[in-house]
Amino acid sequence: MNKDLIDKLNAQKQLSLTEWERLISDFSDTDRKYAADMAREISQSVFGKKIFIRGIVEFSNICRNDCLYCGIRRSNAELSRYRLTKEEIISCCKGGHEYGFRTFVLQSGEDAWFTVDRTADIVREIKKLFPDCAVTLSMGEMEREDYARLKAAGADRYLLRHETADKTHYEKLHPSSMSWEHRMKCLRDLKDLGFQTGAGMMIGSPYQTAECLAEDMQFLSEFRPHMIGLGPFIPHKDTPFRDMPSGSYELTLFLLSLCRIMLPEVLLPATTALGTINPKGREEGVLAGANVIMPNLSPLAVRKKYMLYDNKICTGDESAQCRNCLEMRMRSIGYEISVSRGDFGGTYK
Ligand code: SAM
Ligand code: FES
Repeated sequence: MNKDLIDKLNAQKQLSLTEWERLISDFSDTDRKYAADMAREISQSVFGKKIFIRGIVEFSNICRNDCLYCGIRRSNAELSRYRLTKEEIISCCKGGHEYGFRTFVLQSGEDAWFTVDRTADIVREIKKLFPDCAVTLSMGEMEREDYARLKAAGADRYLLRHETADKTHYEKLHPSSMSWEHRMKCLRDLKDLGFQTGAGMMIGSPYQTAECLAEDMQFLSEFRPHMIGLGPFIPHKDTPFRDMPSGSYELTLFLLSLCRIMLPEVLLPATTALGTINPKGREEGVLAGANVIMPNLSPLAVRKKYMLYDNKICTGDESAQCRNCLEMRMRSIGYEISVSRGDFGGTYK
C-alpha cells in the first residue's frame, strides 16, 4: 500500500525520483482509487463539477517529422494526406461556436505550407470573428521568434507534449533528425512568451520505464505547465511500433490523479486516446481528476485521415453529435459542460 507516498505528494507537491519510481512501478487498485478520490476532491474544489470543452480542428495531416509512434508520420505512405483551407478551418470554428465552444484548438502535423504568416493570418481572423474565444495552437516545434509572432497575432495557448523527459528514451521514439533539447527549449520559449502552455506524454510508449515516468513527473512539477496532456500510447498499424502493446489504462488513470494532486490548478484533459482504449475512459478520467474534454470539430470527410493510432474514436460523428454525446456522458457521472473559455486560473505563471 502506497497511501503514505500519495499523502506525501499531496502535502509537499513533490516526491524524489526514487519515491516516484516506487509509486509508479508498484501500485495496487486500492492505491489508484485512493489517489482518484483525492484528485477528484481537489479538482471539484478548484473547478466545481464543471468540465471545460475545447473543440479540436485537425487542419493538416501533412508532417515533415517521422516520430516512430505516430500514424501521420512522413514515412506512412498508406495515408491519404489533406490540408484544410483557411475558409474550411474558419467554418469548423463557426460551427463550434454555435455549439457553445469558446476554445478552438488548431492541431496539425508539421506542415511547411502553414508558414507563420499564413497561420498568423488565420489566428487573427478567428480572433476577429470570435472575440470571446481562445485560440490554442498545436502544430509542433518552431523557433522562438515564430512563436512570438503567433502570440502577437492573438494565439492564447500552445500544446506541445514534451513526450518524454528522458533524452535516451526520446531518441528511441524519434529519428536522429529530431532533438530532445530543441523540444524542451520550445516549451521554455512558449511559457516565457506568455502562452498558456501544455506539456505531456504518452503512457506506456515503447521503451518507457518507471524511471522515465518518474523523470516526467519531476519535470512537470518543476516546469509547471498550465495544461498536461496524458494519454495511453496506442500502436498504429503503419508505423514501426505496430506490434508494441498499448499503454496501461489503469496506469494512465493513476498518473492523471497524481498530476492533479501535484498541480491542483492544472488543466487536465481526459484524452481521446483514453476514451479509445476504454469506452468509459473519458468519464473515468474525469472521476480520476481530469477537468477538460476535447471533442473533434474537424470536417467528417477528413476525420479518418487524422488517425494517430488505430481505432481512434469519434471519427464517424458530426461535431454536433460529439458535443451532445459528451454532454450526456458528463451528465451520467454528475458533471456539467462549461461554455466558458476555461483559461488557466492558477497562481503560477
Ligand atoms: N505536430 C504536433 C506536435 O508534434 O506536437 C501536434 C500533433 S501530434 C500528432 C499530437 C500528439 O499525438 C503527440 O504529442 C503524441 O503524444 C500523440 N500521439 C501520436 N501518436 C500517438 C500514438 N500512437 N498513441 C497515442 N498518442 C499519440
Ligand atoms: Fe508529425 Fe506525428 S510525426 S504529427
